[in-house]
Amino acid sequence: MNIAIISYSFTGNNDALAGSVAKELSSEYIRISESKPRTWSSIAMDMIFSRIPLVQPSPNLFVKYDLILFFGPIWMGQVATPLRGYLKHLRTNPHKYGFISISGGADGPNTKVRGELRKRTGADPVVFIDLHIADLLSTNPKPTRKATSAYKLDSGDIEQLTSTIVKKLMDVTN
Ligand SMILES: Cc1cc2nc3c(=O)[nH]c(=O)nc-3n(C[C@H](O)[C@H](O)[C@H](O)COP(=O)(O)O)c2cc1C
Repeated sequence: MNIAIISYSFTGNNDALAGSVAKELSSEYIRISESKPRTWSSIAMDMIFSRIPLVQPSPNLFVKYDLILFFGPIWMGQVATPLRGYLKHLRTNPHKYGFISISGGADGPNTKVRGELRKRTGADPVVFIDLHIADLLSTNPKPTRKATSAYKLDSGDIEQLTSTIVKKLMDVTN
Protein backbone atom coordinates (compact mmCIF):
# COMPACT_ATOMS: atom_id res chain seq x y z
CA MET A 1 0.00 0.00 0.00
CA ASN A 2 1.30 3.41 -1.01
CA ILE A 3 1.00 5.58 2.13
CA ALA A 4 1.86 9.26 2.53
CA ILE A 5 2.48 10.59 6.02
CA ILE A 6 1.82 14.30 6.42
CA SER A 7 2.59 15.97 9.74
CA TYR A 8 2.30 19.31 11.45
CA SER A 9 3.94 20.07 14.79
CA PHE A 10 4.23 23.17 16.94
CA THR A 11 6.65 21.84 19.56
CA GLY A 12 8.12 18.86 17.67
CA ASN A 13 6.33 15.82 19.12
CA ASN A 14 4.04 14.95 16.21
CA ASP A 15 6.79 15.52 13.63
CA ALA A 16 9.15 13.25 15.58
CA LEU A 17 6.53 10.51 15.80
CA ALA A 18 5.40 10.87 12.19
CA GLY A 19 9.01 10.69 10.95
CA SER A 20 9.59 7.53 12.95
CA VAL A 21 6.40 5.84 11.65
CA ALA A 22 7.24 6.87 8.07
CA LYS A 23 10.69 5.29 8.45
CA GLU A 24 9.19 2.10 9.86
CA LEU A 25 6.65 1.86 7.00
CA SER A 26 9.07 3.14 4.32
CA SER A 27 6.40 5.71 3.45
CA GLU A 28 6.78 9.09 1.88
CA TYR A 29 6.98 11.73 4.61
CA ILE A 30 5.84 15.33 4.15
CA ARG A 31 6.18 17.99 6.87
CA ILE A 32 3.79 20.91 6.84
CA SER A 33 5.36 24.30 7.40
CA GLU A 34 4.11 27.84 7.64
CA SER A 35 5.75 30.96 6.26
CA LYS A 36 5.18 32.94 9.48
CA PRO A 37 6.37 31.59 12.84
CA ARG A 38 3.43 30.13 14.78
CA THR A 39 2.69 31.80 18.13
CA TRP A 40 0.24 31.22 20.98
CA SER A 41 -1.62 34.32 19.87
CA SER A 42 -1.98 33.10 16.25
CA ILE A 43 -3.30 29.78 17.61
CA ALA A 44 -5.95 31.68 19.58
CA MET A 45 -6.82 33.93 16.59
CA ASP A 46 -7.25 30.91 14.29
CA MET A 47 -9.65 29.39 16.82
CA ILE A 48 -11.65 32.57 17.43
CA PHE A 49 -12.04 33.46 13.74
CA SER A 50 -12.22 29.84 12.43
CA ARG A 51 -9.27 30.58 10.15
CA ILE A 52 -7.70 28.12 7.73
CA PRO A 53 -4.01 29.11 7.66
CA LEU A 54 -1.98 28.91 4.45
CA VAL A 55 0.65 26.17 4.65
CA GLN A 56 3.32 24.55 2.50
CA PRO A 57 3.12 22.29 0.60
CA SER A 58 -0.33 23.18 -0.66
CA PRO A 59 -2.83 20.36 -0.21
CA ASN A 60 -3.18 18.92 -3.73
CA LEU A 61 -0.80 16.00 -3.63
CA PHE A 62 -3.07 13.10 -2.67
CA VAL A 63 -3.81 11.31 -5.93
CA LYS A 64 -0.78 9.03 -6.09
CA TYR A 65 -1.33 7.52 -2.63
CA ASP A 66 -3.71 4.81 -1.40
CA LEU A 67 -3.86 6.27 2.12
CA ILE A 68 -2.98 9.66 3.61
CA LEU A 69 -2.04 9.59 7.28
CA PHE A 70 -2.15 12.93 9.05
CA PHE A 71 -0.24 13.56 12.28
CA GLY A 72 -0.74 16.69 14.34
CA PRO A 73 -1.46 18.04 17.82
CA ILE A 74 -4.85 18.77 19.34
CA TRP A 75 -5.37 22.41 20.31
CA MET A 76 -8.28 23.33 22.59
CA GLY A 77 -10.06 20.10 21.71
CA GLN A 78 -9.64 20.57 17.95
CA VAL A 79 -7.25 19.42 15.23
CA ALA A 80 -4.34 21.90 15.00
CA THR A 81 -5.37 24.62 12.54
CA PRO A 82 -2.48 24.18 10.03
CA LEU A 83 -4.08 20.83 9.06
CA ARG A 84 -7.42 22.43 8.23
CA GLY A 85 -6.56 23.23 4.60
CA TYR A 86 -5.74 19.57 3.99
CA LEU A 87 -8.99 18.41 5.62
CA LYS A 88 -10.97 20.91 3.55
CA HIS A 89 -9.28 19.66 0.37
CA LEU A 90 -10.51 16.14 1.20
CA ARG A 91 -14.11 17.34 1.21
CA THR A 92 -13.95 18.19 -2.50
CA ASN A 93 -11.36 15.51 -3.35
CA PRO A 94 -12.44 12.46 -1.28
CA HIS A 95 -9.58 10.14 -0.39
CA LYS A 96 -8.92 7.43 2.21
CA TYR A 97 -7.28 9.12 5.21
CA GLY A 98 -6.32 8.56 8.83
CA PHE A 99 -5.60 10.87 11.74
CA ILE A 100 -3.03 10.18 14.45
CA SER A 101 -2.11 12.55 17.27
CA ILE A 102 0.12 12.66 20.28
CA SER A 103 -1.56 15.30 22.39
CA GLY A 104 -1.43 16.29 26.06
CA GLY A 105 -4.41 14.31 27.34
CA ALA A 106 -4.34 15.92 30.82
CA ASP A 107 -8.13 16.34 30.64
CA GLY A 108 -8.78 12.87 29.16
CA PRO A 109 -9.56 11.89 25.56
CA ASN A 110 -10.24 14.54 22.93
CA THR A 111 -13.82 13.45 22.31
CA LYS A 112 -14.78 16.03 19.67
CA VAL A 113 -11.98 15.34 17.20
CA ARG A 114 -13.66 12.47 15.30
CA GLY A 115 -16.74 14.62 14.74
CA GLU A 116 -14.60 17.54 13.61
CA LEU A 117 -12.77 15.34 11.09
CA ARG A 118 -16.09 14.10 9.70
CA LYS A 119 -17.44 17.62 9.47
CA ARG A 120 -14.37 19.05 7.74
CA THR A 121 -13.72 16.18 5.30
CA GLY A 122 -17.21 14.74 4.81
CA ALA A 123 -15.97 11.25 5.76
CA ASP A 124 -14.73 9.25 8.75
CA PRO A 125 -11.02 8.45 8.96
CA VAL A 126 -10.14 4.79 8.30
CA VAL A 127 -7.81 5.01 11.28
CA PHE A 128 -8.02 7.33 14.29
CA ILE A 129 -5.43 7.18 17.07
CA ASP A 130 -5.54 9.70 19.95
CA LEU A 131 -2.36 9.13 21.97
CA HIS A 132 -1.67 11.03 25.18
CA ILE A 133 1.46 12.31 26.86
CA ALA A 134 -0.40 11.95 30.19
CA ASP A 135 -0.21 8.16 29.67
CA LEU A 136 3.59 8.37 29.48
CA LEU A 137 3.84 10.22 32.80
CA SER A 138 3.37 9.02 36.34
CA THR A 139 -0.31 9.07 37.37
CA ASN A 140 0.45 10.19 40.92
CA PRO A 141 0.12 13.15 41.03
CA LYS A 142 -2.23 13.38 38.01
CA PRO A 143 -0.35 15.07 35.12
CA THR A 144 -1.31 18.71 34.65
CA ARG A 145 -1.89 20.57 31.36
CA LYS A 146 1.32 22.50 32.04
CA ALA A 147 3.34 19.29 32.46
CA THR A 148 1.90 17.55 29.39
CA SER A 149 2.25 20.63 27.16
CA ALA A 150 5.91 21.07 28.14
CA TYR A 151 6.79 17.40 27.58
CA LYS A 152 9.09 16.42 24.72
CA LEU A 153 8.97 12.81 23.56
CA ASP A 154 12.28 11.01 24.09
CA SER A 155 13.63 8.23 21.89
CA GLY A 156 12.12 5.53 24.16
CA ASP A 157 8.66 7.14 23.93
CA ILE A 158 8.95 7.41 20.16
CA GLU A 159 9.95 3.77 19.82
CA GLN A 160 7.05 2.63 22.03
CA LEU A 161 4.44 4.84 20.32
CA THR A 162 5.69 3.93 16.84
CA SER A 163 5.22 0.25 17.64
CA THR A 164 1.66 0.90 18.95
CA ILE A 165 0.76 2.84 15.80
CA VAL A 166 2.30 0.36 13.36
CA LYS A 167 0.39 -2.52 15.01
CA LYS A 168 -2.91 -0.62 14.68
CA LEU A 169 -2.14 0.30 11.07
CA MET A 170 -1.57 -3.36 10.18
CA ASP A 171 -5.30 -4.01 10.74
CA VAL A 172 -6.20 -1.28 8.25
CA THR A 173 -3.59 -1.84 5.56
CA ASN A 174 -3.70 -5.66 5.39
C1 LIG B 1 -2.61 26.02 22.40
C2 LIG B 1 -2.55 24.58 22.83
C3 LIG B 1 -3.73 23.92 23.12
C4 LIG B 1 -3.71 22.57 23.50
N1 LIG B 1 -4.91 21.91 23.71
C5 LIG B 1 -4.90 20.58 23.96
C6 LIG B 1 -6.13 19.86 24.05
O1 LIG B 1 -7.22 20.38 23.90
N2 LIG B 1 -6.06 18.53 24.31
C7 LIG B 1 -4.88 17.88 24.49
O2 LIG B 1 -4.90 16.65 24.72
N3 LIG B 1 -3.69 18.53 24.38
C8 LIG B 1 -3.67 19.86 24.12
N4 LIG B 1 -2.48 20.54 23.99
C9 LIG B 1 -1.22 19.81 24.19
C10 LIG B 1 -0.59 19.40 22.86
O3 LIG B 1 -1.50 18.66 22.06
C11 LIG B 1 0.65 18.56 23.13
O4 LIG B 1 1.60 19.37 23.81
C12 LIG B 1 1.28 17.98 21.87
O5 LIG B 1 2.19 16.97 22.20
C13 LIG B 1 1.99 19.02 21.06
O6 LIG B 1 2.34 18.43 19.84
P1 LIG B 1 3.47 19.05 18.91
O7 LIG B 1 4.77 18.98 19.72
O8 LIG B 1 3.50 18.16 17.72
O9 LIG B 1 3.11 20.45 18.59
C14 LIG B 1 -2.47 21.88 23.62
C15 LIG B 1 -1.28 22.57 23.35
C16 LIG B 1 -1.31 23.89 22.93
C17 LIG B 1 -0.02 24.58 22.58
